Amino acid sequence: MPKTKSLDQYLHFTTALAKETGALLREMLAQNVSYSLKSSHQDLVTAADRAAEELIVKKIKDKYPEHGILSEESAELKSESNFRWVIDPVDGTSNFAHGIPFFCTSIALEEDGRLVAGAIYEPLRDELFSVALGEGAWLNGQPLNVSSPDQVKKAILAVGYPYDFSLLDGYVAQMKLFLPVAQGLRRLGSAALSLAYIAAGRLDGYVDMNLNRWDLAAGVLLVTEAGGQVTGFQGTELELDTRAIMASNGKIHDEMLKMLEV
Ligand code: IPD
Ligand code: CA
Ligand code: CA
Repeated sequence: MPKTKSLDQYLHFTTALAKETGALLREMLAQNVSYSLKSSHQDLVTAADRAAEELIVKKIKDKYPEHGILSEESAELKSESNFRWVIDPVDGTSNFAHGIPFFCTSIALEEDGRLVAGAIYEPLRDELFSVALGEGAWLNGQPLNVSSPDQVKKAILAVGYPYDFSLLDGYVAQMKLFLPVAQGLRRLGSAALSLAYIAAGRLDGYVDMNLNRWDLAAGVLLVTEAGGQVTGFQGTELELDTRAIMASNGKIHDEMLKMLEV
């Protein structure tokens, strides 16, 4: 756990909030909540996304009324503060809406635009991934390290599919590149958990092209604090708003980047 007192306090708040939200999601999953559509017939939102967001935003406003909040289902709450919370109340909404047990809540804290703490909670396995800048990453309190495979042929990779079909050719091209070479290729349906799984050494690499800041924030910090690497497709330093990312255990990163060059 972090040595810095203020980070420790933020992390404690963040992890407790992620777990409380997860308990709500567990209850709502059992109620078979219905979904409605957002930008397309593939982009879903449920009453659970809204209830989870309401809970998280209320708790942050109660505890840190001066902080900014960027959360998926609402307009950004801007502030003069150096701190901003970046929240995906349910990442993996399609899975949730269909009863597929792979979704989570992701909460991250930025200070002056830099990620400093985060938590991703997967309520069905009671798995809490937590992270603090410069201090480490943990799963249920145990330190996390990325995996050891150093070649793509020994690696399990994950990709995402777009809601934006102008990107379809790029996704198909990636699948054609990675599918025959990697040991396995997955599409898990939660960007945040895909990143948390890299931090935990369960996945070795992940590429996606159409992500938002709230999908990425906590997961990116988890990967880097667990010893992995996250960049853009050209190997450049990741900009959280550029949408396209490559994350890996670091050992297969250059090989993955080279494969995308063709
Ligand atoms: C989605 C998931 C999915 C990714 C999509 C995201 P949501 O988030 O992370 O894995 O491929 O791009 O929008 O809608 O479930 O919060
Ligand atoms: Ca998301
Ligand atoms: Ca979401």
